[in-house]
Amino acid sequence: MNLRNPTTIVDPDKCTGCGICLGVCPSDTLSLINGVAVVTGENSLSCGHCMAVCPTDAIEVKALDSEMTSFETFSLEKKWMKFGDFPTKDLARLIMSRRSCRNFKNNSVEPEILRDLIKLAVFAPSGTNSQGWTFTCLSSRQAVLNFGVTIKQFFQNLNKKAENLFLRNGLKLVGIKALDAYYKEYYASVKTAMDEMENKGLDRLFHGATACILIGSDKKASCPKEDAMLATGNILLAAHTMGLGSCLIGFAVEAMKADKTIQGKIDIPNGENIYAVIALGYPDETYKSITGRKKPIIRFK
Ligand SMILES: Cc1cc2nc3c(=O)[nH]c(=O)nc-3n(C[C@H](O)[C@H](O)[C@H](O)COP(=O)(O)O)c2cc1C
Repeated sequence: MNLRNPTTIVDPDKCTGCGICLGVCPSDTLSLINGVAVVTGENSLSCGHCMAVCPTDAIEVKALDSEMTSFETFSLEKKWMKFGDFPTKDLARLIMSRRSCRNFKNNSVEPEILRDLIKLAVFAPSGTNSQGWTFTCLSSRQAVLNFGVTIKQFFQNLNKKAENLFLRNGLKLVGIKALDAYYKEYYASVKTAMDEMENKGLDRLFHGATACILIGSDKKASCPKEDAMLATGNILLAAHTMGLGSCLIGFAVEAMKADKTIQGKIDIPNGENIYAVIALGYPDETYKSITGRKKPIIRFK
């Protein structure tokens, strides 16, 4: 089945022929024929712009599931927000108050909160609206710990290899510099973290988080990594508004990238790649103020 087949339906009795839908359609799916919008295109992004813009509710895009706009933990005002109709200072405060959380309480994160976070994630943009993302929830502390064991094993094995001078140099000789670079950059800190996990029972990987969301994309999506990271950004901000702390766990992503068997252990199919692992939980830390940031390079031409 062609995923681009239009699922758009126009009710000719409701359509006034205003043509506004044609102006916002990115894929020329609609034409005006005899004063009524008609589906004539063969490639639709199923973005729903036509449906959202229609003044008489004459259009429906069947591919869009209205359930995705119903939330379990809050009720949504479904009216579109006009440009400039949200206080930037409130958004700025939210963006700047989100901090990576590395101290979590023991409470579990309610599944309905995880489900609502995912609904908010999928309203991020995606390349050609492919929406090929996947979300794998580890919804108990035990599930996070089990996942942590596989990640820890990966780094223990990697450190063992990196300790081997002959192997490092040998690989370097044949142009493979990654192990040597890892040794110089990460080996010592990973070893310390592993030792602390082993001997002191500290959770240096997930910081005691009681849930994780693993965000992936179908490898066949047009921009899988970008899509996944944009969805991730939504979750990080939304989590803060829901009283949750969050922290990206890049170490887990790197391990899963290097050892594809890890995702199989938590039943994630081979056709997906994982691009972000978000540790979540009720925070056991608070901050007093918002801080500055390093100045980026900015160019105006
Ligand atoms: C791709 C990526 C991977 C990260 N991996 C980790 C990680 O493995 N462990 C961790 O504690 N923090 C991790 N972080 C969090 C960063 O350290 C954090 O975002 C940064 O220090 C800025 O702090 P803030 O998030 O509080 O603003 C990661 C962040 C990103 C963007």
